[in-house]
Amino acid sequence: MDGNGRWAASRGLPRIAGHRAGADAVRRTIEAAPGLGISILTLYAFSADNWRRPGREVGALLRLLGRYLAQERERCIANGVRVQAIGRRDRLPDSLVALLEQTERATAGGRKLHLRLAIDYSSRQAIAEAAAEAVKALSDGRQATADGLSRQICRQVGPDVDLVIRTSGEQRLSDFLLWECAYAEMLFTPRKWPDFSTADLSDAVSEFQTRERRFGGLPVQRSA
Ligand code: FPP
Repeated sequence: MDGNGRWAASRGLPRIAGHRAGADAVRRTIEAAPGLGISILTLYAFSADNWRRPGREVGALLRLLGRYLAQERERCIANGVRVQAIGRRDRLPDSLVALLEQTERATAGGRKLHLRLAIDYSSRQAIAEAAAEAVKALSDGRQATADGLSRQICRQVGPDVDLVIRTSGEQRLSDFLLWECAYAEMLFTPRKWPDFSTADLSDAVSEFQTRERRFGGLPVQRSA
């Protein structure tokens, strides 16, 4: 969800105004996703490295996240959206953790969209934790082979990613779902996140559908 800050700066507004406009784009995207065949959506809301930003921006972003959760919870329940946070919780304000837990509990039955909010998230950290869990799981006498470890890590981290959309012209993964993106299709758009529209999402899905995914194999032969 890149480009909030630049979107605001280009309008002479403070960066947090860009994040607020970004929250509107989040709402639109969540509403449109199920209709476009998206069943799992992971949004990178706050990376573990975002703590490096000025305290004022960090505080405003975390408050915005809390407000969003409080405001949107009922709509998520009504629309079958299951909310889950991924990332560390021990560095977040207690009030935000409480809101996340309440929202996760209240929306647990949602079946239309699994919305994963990456907050204080680092993929390297997630993989390291998954590997530690996997070693524990395999240390009950069985040999911890590389394959066994890999399978266990797959179980611990999230589902494989089909498509990554990165906005505002950036072309990096920035410690986002590194394991899960092994065969993800990548789509980079110059559009700044607050301007990302339902039509942009629909175009991204259409573009994804044109990609030939081989997963290291050969193209599928179509019979004449
Ligand atoms: C990156 O753009 C954006 C973020 C670090 C924050 C994303 C957060 C939101 C959109 C707020 C609401 C989120 C939810 C899930 C309700 P940037 O600030 O780095 O922008 P820049 O690259 O133009 O400086």
